[in-house]
Amino acid sequence: MNVILLGPPGAGKGTQAKLLEERHGMVQLSTGDMLRAAVKAGTDVGKIAEDIMKRGDLVPNDVVVSIISDRIDQPDAKRGFILDGFPRNVAQAEALDAMLEKKGLKLDHVIQMEVDDEALVERITGRFTCGNCGAGYHDRFKPTKVAGVCDVCGSTEMVRRADDNETTVRSRLATYHKETAPLLPYYKKRGNLVQLNGMAPMDQVAEEIKTVLAADQRLSG
Ligand code: AP5
Repeated sequence: MNVILLGPPGAGKGTQAKLLEERHGMVQLSTGDMLRAAVKAGTDVGKIAEDIMKRGDLVPNDVVVSIISDRIDQPDAKRGFILDGFPRNVAQAEALDAMLEKKGLKLDHVIQMEVDDEALVERITGRFTCGNCGAGYHDRFKPTKVAGVCDVCGSTEMVRRADDNETTVRSRLATYHKETAPLLPYYKKRGNLVQLNGMAPMDQVAEEIKTVLAADQRLSG
């Protein structure tokens, strides 16, 4: 099963994608994570993306379409994938349609999580991850059990994203409303858009996503 998780920055796309990976064996394909890895590695893609991401603008379509196309071709994506952060505008959605058709694949669901802008700012500015294993936390909504120590691997190396400050978050939100929100009528017209209340607690959102996907009876776990 192949799914898009759609929503503004901080809506919980990454959180829910990781839960789907853990609980149902699907594969999270996050363009944001791929771009951050490219920036860290200093690749050509990383050099293009670094300043754009710091501003909260979108990286050029040809760059992200190419990296997602290559990633979908990897063997693990055959188990079913969750697109997290892609597509982000109508041109990317059209490129995805063409790409899936060419690869003989199908999009099963587009799930959008709706969250108020002010709640998003609080979610993002409080977010941090374990620098060792990547487990995600939040100062208020999901703190570590022992302050500064990862619940999963015990590392004390915690990191915050360079674009998780209030100024960049507001710019990312403006980009979302202008560029990404037009995807809602795009997918609604195709009849595979489901809109959920992303303001609900994480486990409740996860249950609602599970209900949507279980309707297909192809969800394991
Ligand atoms: P990307 O990495 O995709 O960032 P984003 O879309 O801004 O989304 P986030 O990762 O910030 O949020 P999320 O929805 O995953 O929320 P999370 O689960 O972490 O993109 C970054 C940049 O890369 C872009 O600005 C752009 O420059 C570039 N880029 C990426 N893709 C691109 C593309 N396709 N085209 C062009 N450019 C691209 O949750 C946030 C926090 O809230 C966490 O701390 C979490 O614990 C907490 N939380 C989650 N759910 C809940 C809940 N239900 N209740 C309370 N707290 C919650």
